[in-house]
Amino acid sequence: MFRAGLTVLVASLCLASASCSGGSQTTIASGDNLPEDQWSRGVWLYGQHCAGCHGEDGEGDEDAPPLSGEGSLPLKATWEGSPRTHDFNTAADVFTYVSEQMPPMEPGTLKSEDYWAIVFYSLKQAQVEVGEPPMNANSARNVALR
Ligand code: HEC
Repeated sequence: MFRAGLTVLVASLCLASASCSGGSQTTIASGDNLPEDQWSRGVWLYGQHCAGCHGEDGEGDEDAPPLSGEGSLPLKATWEGSPRTHDFNTAADVFTYVSEQMPPMEPGTLKSEDYWAIVFYSLKQAQVEVGEPPMNANSARNVALR
């Protein structure tokens, strides 16, 4: 039931927004031609794969939790039905979760470097002290969320 509902939601979001069809706003890059720098790459990939549910600025809505702002990325999962069982202490914890579970319909389908770009970008947007890019498995362990 939950999955079916999400499918409908995503399909309608794709119809309503240019971000799913690579419309004029998002043609800064495509496919294999993504920017090298982690932040720009993250901007584009987040817009393609995450913003439809979590919002352009990670504000979330009734169908997806916020990724930025007050109370976002809580230590323990608070979203009902979340498959998350581990705490969010550092950026590495967020990366593990996102790369294994997101996007919900096709989890784990992005390349590791693309998940890093998304996590770097979205945590920076969320005012986390992410340090200098590139973020990776080593540096992310030292990036505390709070
Ligand atoms: C189809 C809608 C959808 C898409 C697309 C999506 N998410 Fe999610 N996301 C959710 C839902 C629903 C949850 C809550 C359930 C859960 O934790 O799995 C969630 C949970 C999360 C959480 C955990 C938040 C918390 O408070 O525990 C993070 C982090 C996250 N998503 C990041 C991402 C990123 C990054 C992307 C893009 C790669 C993405 N999501 C794409 C719907 C979506």
